[in-house]
Amino acid sequence: MAITRLICYLLQVMVVMMMFPMVFNGLVNANHDYADALMKSILFFEGQRSGKLPSTQRLTWRKDSALQDGHDMGVDLVGGYYDAGDNLKFGFPMAFTMTLLAWSMIEFGEYLGPEFGHASEALQWGTDYLLKATAEANKVYVQVGDPYADHNCWERPEDMDTARTVVYVDAQHPGSEVAAEIAAALAAASIAFRASQSNYADKLLQRSIQVFDFATKYRGSYNDSVGRWVCPFYCDFSGYEDELIWGAAWLFKATKNVQYLNFAVITGRKPVWPAEFGWDDKHAGISVLLSKVYIFLKDSTEYYNKAEDFVCNTVPQSPTRTLKYSPGGLMFKPGGSNMQNPTSISFLLLVLSRYYGQQNFNCGSVQVNPSTFVHVVKSQVDYILGDNPLQMSYMVGYGAKFPQRIHHRGSSLPSKDTHPIGFKCKEGTPYFQSTNPNPNLLTGALIGGPDPNDAFFDNRSDFAHSEPTTYLVAPMVGVLAYFKDNA
Ligand SMILES: *[C@@H]1O[C@H](CO)[C@@H](O)[C@H](O)[C@H]1NC(C)=O
Ligand SMILES: *[C@@H]1O[C@H](CO)[C@@H](O)[C@H](O)[C@H]1NC(C)=O
Repeated sequence: MAITRLICYLLQVMVVMMMFPMVFNGLVNANHDYADALMKSILFFEGQRSGKLPSTQRLTWRKDSALQDGHDMGVDLVGGYYDAGDNLKFGFPMAFTMTLLAWSMIEFGEYLGPEFGHASEALQWGTDYLLKATAEANKVYVQVGDPYADHNCWERPEDMDTARTVVYVDAQHPGSEVAAEIAAALAAASIAFRASQSNYADKLLQRSIQVFDFATKYRGSYNDSVGRWVCPFYCDFSGYEDELIWGAAWLFKATKNVQYLNFAVITGRKPVWPAEFGWDDKHAGISVLLSKVYIFLKDSTEYYNKAEDFVCNTVPQSPTRTLKYSPGGLMFKPGGSNMQNPTSISFLLLVLSRYYGQQNFNCGSVQVNPSTFVHVVKSQVDYILGDNPLQMSYMVGYGAKFPQRIHHRGSSLPSKDTHPIGFKCKEGTPYFQSTNPNPNLLTGALIGGPDPNDAFFDNRSDFAHSEPTTYLVAPMVGVLAYFKDNA
């Protein structure tokens, strides 16, 4: 029996190796410096900070910005994160980023080592803002900035002079997806902070419960309530039900109150369940999160089966796989910024490998062993760090060769240190159009990445491939921490 299992495991590892010849044929480094990449991935969040920067700020080319956010409406919305290469604070992806960062700390915190403090600061920078955005009952501030005006300019956040439009949802204008994602982030962060800052954890959990009540009581999509402020930027395509289940799942994990588990299970009882995980669609994340508790509590395999579907759709050795891989081995799905797929799918696979040890998943006629997921995930991480046909690291500042012209206003314009005079809206355009490298390193940034054939043109105006976002990096914090100690 044990021998059969060993042979089966070796065969699976060989399948993974055959899928990724670049990685396994010795063309590349044995191991990357995962500790360096981890440190950089957390540093990245400092580059995206909005508000008054603390004296401990390490990315010093960034300065204070958006110090009046919310002022016109008499609320304090200073702080939080710019989501990407612009100067907007979009609450929906910001909250998802914080949920993933918290999950990274919950699942892989033991490996963060000296980076634990920096990761906590990165999470708290986001959750402090989410607390401000949810301070009023039955009202959630979901965004600051006018995306049309902002995108029309190429300005540093420190100079930004476009309207700081404040967008909110309330009982008459509901936004269940954004409110429930914020509830998920606050609940997950309460778990991440439980041991180190218990009073803060209590506050986050209390708020999460309130915001989740609001999300479920007043149902509707922010698509309809705030329309053009969020669509087509962070339009909710997958509907708000997945966020309600996701929020309930995190609240169950944080409170152990079965009312949340029952809500999640009843709302999620669907035969078809997408194998997707990103800022819009949370289904695969819910499957992974609930698969374990639900088996334990109800002796039902409903969510385990959904997690199995995700695995069978994803891993190279599965005969029913739908996910594509580039010739060089990177996970690929059509549309938008692809890097969301290898980073967030890798995170879920690594969590599953820890949950299920030697228990096999059944993919058609093939039994897939979760311990082999570590090899799949490592192939993605190593590709991202430079083991790919171009030998290009897709993390800014990591390795010998990395993207020089990322689509990011602050990174591509001279900093206030070298150019103290402000740039007006269109005065930044020559820097946007220039083929020179960006002057400021947004260390640790991950960008959309290569095309389906492993080609990458390092072109600033091609935002689908060259723009960094916070939710690409957040799952990598946990994955890199794991490989730092377990490579
Ligand atoms: C939000 O808008 C997009 C684009 O119009 C649409 O495809 C999607 O179905 C809408 N989502 C909801 C929940 O109404
Ligand atoms: C850069 O990308 C833009 C937008 O995708 C494209 O129009 C342009 O031709 C590209 N430039 C180069 C030099 O490839």
